[in-house]
Amino acid sequence: MQIKATAKLEQDWTGDALAIGMLENSQVQLDPKYDDLVSEIIAENKFEAKAGSTLSSRIAGLKDLKKIILVGLGKELTLDSLRNAAASIAREAKKNKALAIVLPAVQNDPSKSAQAITEGMLLGLYQDERFKSDPEKKEAQLEKVELIGLPDDTNSAIELAQSIVSGVILAKELVAAPANVVTPLEMAQTAERIAQEYGLEIKILEEQDCKDLSMGAFLGVGQASNLPPKFIHLSYIPTKKANKKVAIVGKSLTFDSGGLNIKGQGSGIETMKMDMGGGAATLGAAKVIGQLKPAIEVHFICAATENMISGHAMHPGDILTASNGKTIEIINTDAEGRLTLADALVYAEKLEVDYIVDLATLTGACVIALGDDIAGLWSTDEDLSRQLQQAASEAGEKIWAMPLENKYAESIKSPIADLKNVGPRAGGSITAALFLKEFVKETPWAHLDIAGPVWADKTSGINNAGATGFPVRTLVNWILSLA
Ligand code: BES
Ligand code: MG
Ligand code: ZN
Repeated sequence: MQIKATAKLEQDWTGDALAIGMLENSQVQLDPKYDDLVSEIIAENKFEAKAGSTLSSRIAGLKDLKKIILVGLGKELTLDSLRNAAASIAREAKKNKALAIVLPAVQNDPSKSAQAITEGMLLGLYQDERFKSDPEKKEAQLEKVELIGLPDDTNSAIELAQSIVSGVILAKELVAAPANVVTPLEMAQTAERIAQEYGLEIKILEEQDCKDLSMGAFLGVGQASNLPPKFIHLSYIPTKKANKKVAIVGKSLTFDSGGLNIKGQGSGIETMKMDMGGGAATLGAAKVIGQLKPAIEVHFICAATENMISGHAMHPGDILTASNGKTIEIINTDAEGRLTLADALVYAEKLEVDYIVDLATLTGACVIALGDDIAGLWSTDEDLSRQLQQAASEAGEKIWAMPLENKYAESIKSPIADLKNVGPRAGGSITAALFLKEFVKETPWAHLDIAGPVWADKTSGINNAGATGFPVRTLVNWILSLA
């Protein structure tokens, strides 16, 4: 599909559908040729332009133009309202071949506006039919989209959005694919494909390599699985001098049964294919960075395995030793993500990076605290925390800073080992973050608990129901902001 910005407003639109964005209580500025027609449609249907609302009208008598789609921008014109409106348009127009869109630009920011509109369009159109035997997509599909009234020099922002969305879609596809498709091996092969296609370096540590590095926590989690664990390290090294060096670490449990503390009825065990959402976003970001090639060195790390049960499973009460020598008493085998991350964080710190950011579907407690749409953010570094909040806000992805309350660290001390892998129920997402902190010595570090926003139960905004690809866009914005 081709998306292009065209500056001029007055012309004969050749698209078979024309989409027009409207703010609440405002008039649209259009070619006078269409004014009467549009005013009539608005009046007849009492269209109020509420955010996300659409009104689709078949029209007769105009050459080439068969359909007008009105879309509400709500009360305020922001990048977010543009992104969401574009997604609504995409859903309405997906069966038309050619579409012209008239959306206003946010003041002084036509490029960011074009980027937001393109992101919204592409994500709104996205439909995952990989596992259907008879996909709907075979029918007519959108081939050409024109963004009317946006300056021609916004076309590079459209290309940027296309690259970013390719990473978001990779993350969505990894998360949505079931655990019998996306295995640790498949994660590793996906990383290898990215490395090949975009010229990144790749290292896959096999089980024996992880043993040699004494990754007892990571290996303990994977030991009941029939599938071999894969520790994935993908690196993007710029050809120009790097301004900064960072590591992204993603929790990569391709399935989380809970282990011997098995997840019971109503626990959502059937959704635990999403437990590699952090790793999926990590690879999604790698795919984008591989295309954009900024002057930042980025290491992408996924310790991929499954949390299963068998005669080899770790027992509740076992003591594991992580690669920094810390010993961990396993109180609950379902608190496994932090164990895999422990060794991944130790590995990341050895790379001597300026920042480490981890992403993890870590706790149900974070979903209780912040709901389905908002990720929790913990950081040892004020600057890093601010940078990430800024990047997220521009992406329209919601994150909220949470405390690393030192007093609670008492509750994860073990009488028999250095640490236990769980604290009390109260504050469960905070003690999980404090546990991770034990495995980062001095590098500025941030942790995002994405258990809520990695999945959307219902279509809303730019997210079609299902995997969201959260927070690929935040990560990319953040990395670009360092360049
Ligand atoms: N993968 C889960 C967390 C999760 C919950 C992700 C809901 C996505 C949606 C994690 O491994 C887990 O099981 N956490 C436990 C921790 C508890 C045993 C301390 C939880 O949140 O219940
Ligand atoms: Mg678990
Ligand atoms: Zn988990």
